[in-house]
Amino acid sequence: MTDRLDLLHDAAVRSALELELGRRIEHHVRLASTQDRARALLDEGTDAAVVIADEQTAGHGRQGRPWLSPPGQALLASWIYRPLPSDPALFALLGGVAVARALAQFGVSAARLKWPNDVQLSDRKVAGVLADAVTAGDAGALVLGIGVNVHQQPRDLADLSTATSLVIEGGPVDRLALFARLCRELDRIAASPDERVAALDEWRARSATLGHQVEVRPAAGATLRGLARSIESDGALVVETAGGNERIVAGEVSLV
Ligand code: BTN
Repeated sequence: MTDRLDLLHDAAVRSALELELGRRIEHHVRLASTQDRARALLDEGTDAAVVIADEQTAGHGRQGRPWLSPPGQALLASWIYRPLPSDPALFALLGGVAVARALAQFGVSAARLKWPNDVQLSDRKVAGVLADAVTAGDAGALVLGIGVNVHQQPRDLADLSTATSLVIEGGPVDRLALFARLCRELDRIAASPDERVAALDEWRARSATLGHQVEVRPAAGATLRGLARSIESDGALVVETAGGNERIVAGEVSLV
């Protein structure tokens, strides 16, 4: 399939889309990281913008892990939300709901969500979300980075047991159309607390974590095992262990 993301090179196309989406679009052929660039834009005072790149040379994910993808194959973008929403940590989960909803528009309706920030197809990761709360001026801002594996073939992915792409899953998608749809889904969720409640319910319905025995390596504290019971309204995962319920706000989870 033809991928039209290159059309964003064209200033007229870009400004038409900017007008439609109500946010400035900064497009790069090659960039260290859209997340780092969006943070730099905040320092310049930018409010509503999205940075998108065809290739990242220093893309990164949660806990500083590298986020790798060959040029032209992934959707790599970072959105600025200013002021900072009251519940920034929740956006790691809600970004996944926005991806799942956007994919559904292209006939890929089976996306499932793994706590906190993975979007999965066939139990393998197809997209990841990075929600950074940033101090910027008085009110702060949220920089929401999303990477979606779109055109990668099996040879392009480091570990086929844990990662996949839309093409591998049989759903080739135009990155420009996916980008535009994702902008709308994110803005809808960011627009109101009611939308966030509804999106969190959808996270629960699409969850690949809840109801399973899990091993959790919390950001602070000892590894624990138990049943993934529920997601609280702030996005925390509640795990029922032999010693009682544990509330996890940040960490890594694997199914056991
Ligand atoms: C994760 O699963 O750990 C989150 C991955 C987030 C990757 C995206 S790609 C666009 C943006 N720029 C980055 O450097 N990271 C995010």
